[in-house]
Parts: sequence; C-alpha cells; structure tokens
Amino acid sequence: MFPQLIIKDLKLDVPVIQGGMGIGVSLYPLASAVAAEGGAGIISSAALDRLLSKRNNKKYNAYEATYEEVSLAKSRGGVTGINIMVALARDFLDSVRGAIDAGADMIISGAGLPMTLPSIAKVKHTALIPIVSSARALNIICKRWQRQGYRPDAAILEGPLAGGHLGFRVDQVYLEENRLENLLPPVKEIAIKHGDFPVIVAGGIYTHNDIIRFLELGADGVQLGTRFLATEESSASDSYKAAVLKANSEDIIVAHKPGSPCGLPFRVIKQSPMYQDALCRARKPKCNKGYVLTKDKYGKYTRCPAKEDNESYFCICNGLTSAADYNSDKERPIYTVGTNADRINRIMSVHELMNELKGISHTDSQKLGTSTAVSRL
Ligand SMILES: Cc1cc2nc3c(=O)[nH]c(=O)nc-3n(C[C@H](O)[C@H](O)[C@H](O)COP(=O)(O)O)c2cc1C
Repeated sequence: MFPQLIIKDLKLDVPVIQGGMGIGVSLYPLASAVAAEGGAGIISSAALDRLLSKRNNKKYNAYEATYEEVSLAKSRGGVTGINIMVALARDFLDSVRGAIDAGADMIISGAGLPMTLPSIAKVKHTALIPIVSSARALNIICKRWQRQGYRPDAAILEGPLAGGHLGFRVDQVYLEENRLENLLPPVKEIAIKHGDFPVIVAGGIYTHNDIIRFLELGADGVQLGTRFLATEESSASDSYKAAVLKANSEDIIVAHKPGSPCGLPFRVIKQSPMYQDALCRARKPKCNKGYVLTKDKYGKYTRCPAKEDNESYFCICNGLTSAADYNSDKERPIYTVGTNADRINRIMSVHELMNELKGISHTDSQKLGTSTAVSRL
C-alpha cells in the first residue's frame, strides 16, 4: 500500500505519524489507538503534570507524569512517542528524562530548536526527531547535534498550514516559497548531506491522495494533527470538537497580536472564547500555570509574557487546558486547529480515519483486520 517508514530501529508499515497535540488533546487513548492501526501515536508532554494530577487525584511532577503517560501509551503495543516543546522551558529537561526512562519509541521536539536534546539523557532505542520549518534550521540542528555525537533519527518538516504554533513570521505564512512542496527539496538535501535520515512532512495534509503526493515528492512519511483532533479517541472537550465541526474557512486565523506568549504565530478558531476576550481586552492577566516561562534578567525562569501584557498575549496555558476540559470551571478555552479544519464534518474513530488515510474502503477493512505488534528491525 505504502512504502515502509524506517526510523532508527523502528519500522512503520503505515508512514503516518499522529502529531503531538497539547494541551491534553493527544494523550494515551489517542496515541495507542493510532499505534494499533500501524501508525505512530504521539502524546503531548504539555501540562501533563496537571492533567495527571487531576485524572488520578494525586500530585505528579513533570518527570513522573511523562513517565506514566508514555508507559500507558506503550503498554498497548505499536509505535508510540511524545512531543516535547522547547518553548515549555521549565519542564523540558524533566519531560525528556521521563520519556527516555519510560522507553518512548520517539521524542519529537519543536516550538524552538532542540539544540541540546541528544545530551540530556543517555538514549537507547528512543529516536530523537526535531521539528523544523526550514532547511537552515535543520542544518543548524545537525551541526549542533554532530558536536554531541548524534545525528537526527528523522526530521519533521512542518509547513505554515499546520495547527498549533507556526515556525514562520505572520507575514511569511502564505508566501509561495513557504508552501510545503517548496520547502521539502532543500530540507531533503540537508537530510541527505547529514547521513540520509527520513524527512516527514506536516501541515495541511488531509487525504490519502495528499499522502501519496508528498511521498512522490520525496517525503518519507507524513504527520497529521487536525484529522486526529477530530476523532473519538482525542481528548479534546466536546465543545472543542463542536467548534471544529462548525468552523468555516474564514473562522480559522493566525493569531499574533493578541497571540501566544511563546512569541510564535498560533492558528486558532477566531470564535474561541479566550481569543475573543483577548481581542476586546476583557480578560485580566491571571496566569497561574507558568509553562511558557522566559528568563528574567537574573537568568531565572520567572517571566510569563501573558501575565505582564494581556493586550498582546492570551494566557495560552489556561486557554488550552480549558479546551481539554481540565480547567473549564475557571477559564475560557482557546481552540487551535490546522488550516484544513473547515473540511471536517464529522467526528470519526481512529480506525475509520486510518483506513481512509490508507486508502482502504470499509469492506476491505473488514476483510483485512489490523495488527498491533511493534515492528523493530
Ligand atoms: C490541536 C492541536 C494541537 C497541537 N499541539 C502541538 C504541540 O503541542 N506541539 C507541537 O509540536 N505541535 C503541535 N501541533 C501541531 C501538530 O503536531 C501537527 O504537526 C500539525 O497539526 C500538522 O498539521 P495539520 O493539523 O494540518 O495536520 C498541534 C496541532 C493541533 C491541531
């Protein structure tokens, strides 16, 4: 059906990675369902300490929460991993250590350049995969990792149509040169120069034919987010999923002022309650989470841009935890989606979605069944 995607010693029969979606959208139920269908299921590390503390009614730190969620995802078989954003600076090291100790198959890391990832903990089989938006960024990472004696096991190239944070300035999002198709060849060249590791493309990929097209253009695999957001197994709240179903193309915008305190453009459904509050300055800055901290003048992680300036920034930690129903009694949600979210008209199961992506019709899928075994070389 598809060529296999081989990353380090992992072998994926379906070259589809379900992108990590924070906060609390891609947890172990979604990741393990995707893994069971032969793709790679990725949990998000964002705010896992709070999410698991609430789920299990006991206190977790970032290391413990990561360790437990990765272990849960892995326990059901297949290939699973975790997305750990560099921008979540305070918990970055603990999340990486927890994931490696729990034996994550892969760590995918973006929202900033993961320059020190190979040196944080001794890696055994875990594949280390940076997310980039340009050949230049990938080249910088390869050179830095080379000095640490490591070569990326694969790279994700995320174009400007993706959900979540974007690695482009807001005025660069719709430039012809930044179309995923045009970003791919130079990124592929850098990957070949540094040892020919796989390049996986992300952002705006929606159908089986899209996957075929990108494989024909030279990609080794694809990563999808928005399609998996709109599944039964995703942990987005019902109102989040309802907002996705209702959104049309004009409703999906790239927010920047007000925008994410990470400082990167962030794609949202414009009717999201927290975004509307931020637009009319109706919300007082009351950040009490502190995942997106930057360093103060003494080099300590104490500064949240949204707390200091709620006219330019919305409180993304509270808005996103609320969108996963973990904080909805206290804060109003913000909904992030990819540009193709307007095409979603129903919530489906991961099984049904993966069959559609594989190009298998309903009757074929009944005959074939699915496999959950991990394939390792
Ligand atoms: C709801 C949502 C949350 C996301 N959260 C993250 C995240 O926490 N970290 C990250 O690196 N990417 C995140 N992304 C990006 C996805 O992992 C994926 O690369 C991207 O959505 C692919 O584009 P698509 O949505 O058009 O398929 C998120 C995307 C969505 C839709």
